[in-house]
Amino acid sequence: MSKTGFDLVVVSNRLPVDLCVDGAGEVTWTRSPGGLVTALDPVVKNAQAAWVGWSGAPDQTIEPFDAAGTFLAPVELSAAEVAQYYEGFSNDTLWPLYHDVIAPPAYHRAWWDTYRRVNARFAHAAAKQAAEGATVWVHDYQLQLVPALLRQLRPDLRIGFFNHIPFPPFELFQQLPWRRQILDGLLGADVIGFQRRTDAANFRRAVQLLTAINARSERFTIKTDDGERRTVAAKAFPISIDSAAFNELARTPEVQQRAKEIRKELGNPDVVMLGVDRLDYTKGIRHRIKVYGELLHDERISVADCTLVQVASPSRENVEAYQDLREQVEILVGRINGEYGELGHTAIHYLHHSYPQDEMAALYLAADVMLVTSLRDGMNLVAKEYVAARHDLSGALVLSELTGAADELSGAIMVNPHDIDGMKDAFMHAAHMPAAESRRRMRRLRRKVMHNDVSKWAHAFLDMLVVVGDENDAHRNRGESLSPVAEVENIA
Ligand code: F6P
Repeated sequence: MSKTGFDLVVVSNRLPVDLCVDGAGEVTWTRSPGGLVTALDPVVKNAQAAWVGWSGAPDQTIEPFDAAGTFLAPVELSAAEVAQYYEGFSNDTLWPLYHDVIAPPAYHRAWWDTYRRVNARFAHAAAKQAAEGATVWVHDYQLQLVPALLRQLRPDLRIGFFNHIPFPPFELFQQLPWRRQILDGLLGADVIGFQRRTDAANFRRAVQLLTAINARSERFTIKTDDGERRTVAAKAFPISIDSAAFNELARTPEVQQRAKEIRKELGNPDVVMLGVDRLDYTKGIRHRIKVYGELLHDERISVADCTLVQVASPSRENVEAYQDLREQVEILVGRINGEYGELGHTAIHYLHHSYPQDEMAALYLAADVMLVTSLRDGMNLVAKEYVAARHDLSGALVLSELTGAADELSGAIMVNPHDIDGMKDAFMHAAHMPAAESRRRMRRLRRKVMHNDVSKWAHAFLDMLVVVGDENDAHRNRGESLSPVAEVENIA
């Protein structure tokens, strides 16, 4: 670390690694779950950056440390804060609200108070690590107040915010008692990035309807507390993966060998279908399993020729909606396996674990059909990983229209996950796809995924931050203020 701090500081709820303390007090670090780390890890690796985030365990005071070229600065959360800020406001209020209220959001004032307090702690931690004029990149819905809080502490910084999940239509966002405070928090950033154009449009419409700011275009002007003008950009930057690295991983002899072993362990069926998700109600896991069960019932497939592997990695296990989902999924899997399984042929291989990347690459290679059936999903990087792994142009991707990935991956078989009959036909189409069609589709998919990789995403975002940051520095240096009649409102 330099004496004056870092030129790039990433701030996210979790650090890229999770602390696990077992019963005997033994400490280990594992890769954090989810798409955010998948995307950001290659961006910050060896970039001499600092990463501010929570260790994933409550009540742990951990000194900052270096990990593979990144300086990790842990933010401490008490058990009560984990319950109210992380499990409560982030994952039982914002998460369901931002995902089409698939589960009902809970609104509790005590959770909101804790969310504010924890966001302020993250803002202070980021301010501490940032060099003069540094770029601070804040991530995701858990930290929406950080941009404005950080700007108050450090007006010299260039602040970007990226929302990894959908931003809801105004008619849903309107439900949130603290909707105005959330907008003010986000508007502290110079650039606010979203996965899809619809997300950015939803955000700008909320700004338009709840403030006096004219946010009709992607770049608009606001007036700061001290009367200065500031430009804000709010637009889509679809996130991706380190496609080349994933492609390379899938080509290694070890991964190819492991893929063969997996098929053998599954009994060498004609068709292997695969689902890979965090065990989350937004992912449409129940819908997918229902479809597979009905296909068995209709005898359009049999367990001997078509098996389903469902990786459901543990997630947010203290939140009731997630506990309910786990129970529902496991009952459904048990019922289908009991009804249709045979000695030597399991219908659904249900794996409630997380796996390292090389095992994931082998699973993707072993699967003829990848099933992504989310009911709402910011992007879905699993779909992109599957495509990056299929270097021999085989395999078929079934993709929900309700994912951000659907905007780009037009070579997939698109499904509406609520249309069970439509999904049944799509699964069958994918399972029996002629090799020539599969090659044609996969070539198209790979063109997109290999070209639009995570480094392109990061550069697009950070380049925009330079443009807007320069513009705002120029405003500041010229001491430009807006005329009192301008149609803007003060932002804290
Ligand atoms: O993008 C959604 C997100 O919350 C990310 O921040 C994270 O990568 C992933 O889901 C996993 O969630 P959690 O940190 O709650 O386990």
